[in-house]
Amino acid sequence: MTKLFAIGALVSLGLLAALPHGARAAGGSLYTAAQATAGKTAYLKSCASCHGANLSGVSGPPLKGSAAPYRGSQSVAQVYDYISGQMPLNAPGSLSPKAYVSIMAFLLQQNGHAPGKKPLTATNAQNLEDII
Ligand code: HEC
Repeated sequence: MTKLFAIGALVSLGLLAALPHGARAAGGSLYTAAQATAGKTAYLKSCASCHGANLSGVSGPPLKGSAAPYRGSQSVAQVYDYISGQMPLNAPGSLSPKAYVSIMAFLLQQNGHAPGKKPLTATNAQNLEDII
């Protein structure tokens, strides 16, 4: 019994150690479906010309799936900080915080994260360690 417990504890520690400190895989409930819908409209208007209507990349990198550089390596906070400070490349920071938040929700949706009941806000987008 004791031996089994010890093995179980070691396995759990190994799993925890696989992610950087404070980071965790993104779960559900980071944004609402309505935010992702609004985000799609804002994305098509301000981002699609360089990243593609289907997010597969044009002059800018793909923002969806395994081809997206940020996928599996960057947190929501890092991506939000980047898009709200650097994008659109031709007019950085020109969108409203609300538009950036909804675009962030759309990017999460397009990368397979399920919506929930709790809306994403600029404040929690700036602090979420969940990996996109
Ligand atoms: C005029 C073209 C252009 C527009 C418009 C544009 N981007 Fe970009 N974007 C780029 C380019 C080029 C890069 C790569 C920059 C680099 O590597 O330094 C980039 C990089 C990115 C990245 C980093 C990707 C990664 O995985 O590291 C994200 C996220 C992003 N853009 C999101 C957006 C969003 C959201 C919008 C709309 C608000 C937008 N972009 C509008 C050209 C554009």
